[in-house]
Amino acid sequence: MKPDIESRDDVETLVDTFYEKVKRNLTLGYIFTDVAKVDWPHHLPRMYSFWSSILLGEQSYQGNPMIKHIELSRITPLTEAEFSEWLRLFHETLDELFEGENAAEARTRAENIARLMLFKIQSAR
Ligand code: HEM
Repeated sequence: MKPDIESRDDVETLVDTFYEKVKRNLTLGYIFTDVAKVDWPHHLPRMYSFWSSILLGEQSYQGNPMIKHIELSRITPLTEAEFSEWLRLFHETLDELFEGENAAEARTRAENIARLMLFKIQSAR
């Protein structure tokens, strides 16, 4: 049996494993490395805080991901295809590492946020 996501350490494992997959992914990798030229030492801790706030009630994330992704969609296509691939990799990572209530919550929250993000991106066009 796999563990559930119980601590910030677990969140870091989830996030690190996920973005390693994202970087190598044909559909998504270039968006992070070539288009947004992500500063990983800056981005990863923000993602640890984002998911720790959602799953562990840490209240450490401050930011507006919706605006960031709307801005990103103005310089590179962020469509159903990119979001499906993002979710596929996120779910694959969750399933490899964790199971339980928080793992299920992470899955549902990612789906809901992705749906809302895509909707806002399409509405902003
Ligand atoms: C097509 C799918 C997606 C792509 C290509 C994408 C790409 C990116 C990129 C390039 C950044 C900026 C990193 C930086 O330079 O600081 C970012 C930030 C972020 N993304 Fe995504 N993203 C996607 C979907 C999602 C989804 C579904 C979520 C949430 C479930 C999410 C959550 C975040 C958060 C929280 C940030 C940090 C914003 C901040 O700095 O406050 N992203 N994303």
